[in-house]
Amino acid sequence: MQEVSELIPTLFDQRTRPDPYPCYAALREREPVPLATGRGVMLGSFASCLAALRDRRLSSDRTVSWAYSGDPAATTSRPEIQSLLFSDPPDHTRLRRLMSHAFTPGMVERLRAFVRARIDDLIDAAAPAGRIEVVGGLAYPLPLSVIGHMLGVPGSDMKWLHARSMVLPRAFDPAMAAFGTPPPGHAERMVAEREMNAYFLELGRRRLRSPGDDLVSELAMVSADGDRLSERELADNCRLLLNAGHETTVNLIDNTLLALLRHPREAERLRADPHRASAIVEETMRWDSPVQILQRFVPRDLRFGEVDLRAGDIVVLLTAAAQRDPAAFADADAFLPDRTDGRHLGFGFGAHFCLGAALSRMELGLLAPRFFQRLVGPVLDESSVRYREQVALRGLTRMDVDFTDVRPRELAWPL
Ligand code: HEM
Repeated sequence: MQEVSELIPTLFDQRTRPDPYPCYAALREREPVPLATGRGVMLGSFASCLAALRDRRLSSDRTVSWAYSGDPAATTSRPEIQSLLFSDPPDHTRLRRLMSHAFTPGMVERLRAFVRARIDDLIDAAAPAGRIEVVGGLAYPLPLSVIGHMLGVPGSDMKWLHARSMVLPRAFDPAMAAFGTPPPGHAERMVAEREMNAYFLELGRRRLRSPGDDLVSELAMVSADGDRLSERELADNCRLLLNAGHETTVNLIDNTLLALLRHPREAERLRADPHRASAIVEETMRWDSPVQILQRFVPRDLRFGEVDLRAGDIVVLLTAAAQRDPAAFADADAFLPDRTDGRHLGFGFGAHFCLGAALSRMELGLLAPRFFQRLVGPVLDESSVRYREQVALRGLTRMDVDFTDVRPRELAWPL
């Protein structure tokens, strides 16, 4: 068995990306694993990760940690960011309440027809070639166009925003926590973040002057008990929605289709019964989750279970390890959509539970059955599969699928 000090470097090693789960298992068995910086721990069991997400003494505000409290230029995110994801009550409660007013189940439902049309367009575009590169041809364009449409971003701006948004996901890798250095590409990320924020600041102002039928307008106008989002809050949270709303869903599309193509019996069962889509998506969220790692920060000295944490420490939660914990799941390493113990932490838990969970469930619930309904004889080209470099967000950069024919888009939708 590897020394405990070697496990975290192994986790970050690119050779671990295709299958990080043995490394997660080793880290889970040794929890709490001290971070090399001496400022915090990694947790990997389901019970500990859940307890940490429930523990109101732990903070989502990274500026309370040693790593992000010093020179802002050395941090992976500017401390003044007023985003939902990085705030605690009472600020978080207030922001979440205002954003939830605009981000409703009705709004998600209204996108259903748009999502269906987009899925069929993307499948039609791949049809003549008899081969689809799933990541570039389906997984990216679908959620990106959905979130762009929802926010009311002009189509002509999407390419510009997407290029900037592509450099941000590595900010979620816990390299600062583990090694005391930001993940690669830090300077580029800071520039992209600033440019995107300036873009949304301007878009928010335009929508305030002349509102449209979109989420930025709704968020600009939303008010509760006389309270409103400030210009800065609007810009920071629209950027959050753009990033959170597509990178993660891209990875869920990759991971769900890959799981089905590698489990052809499950794909066949889905074709026969499209209602199985929901169970398949939830099992992918557990078994090969788009978000593998979360972080929490320690505002003041406290005892968490058997661990003494000091103010400024960081707690790294290996939620993907927790979701394969044999103490919480029977046959934890198997992909079993029929399992009854499938509760997962893939959308987080508690106060910060993902605001877009219903939207991505809807997208996947339509896409997965339609893919196997319209594509005839889809076969994965295993040699084409490439994983992303990121540690905290898991997905692919390439996956080619061959098929013999495509059934017409006039075919009734399975769901
Ligand atoms: C499969 C797709 C998705 C996954 C796996 C995912 C995962 C997560 C997770 C794990 C959190 C909690 C983070 C924490 O506790 O620190 C979260 C929060 C959040 N997500 Fe998602 N997400 C997805 C899609 C979306 C979409 C489509 C949107 C918006 C359009 C979105 C918007 C948000 C927002 C705004 C938060 C912050 C909530 C808060 O702090 O109160 N997410 N997401």
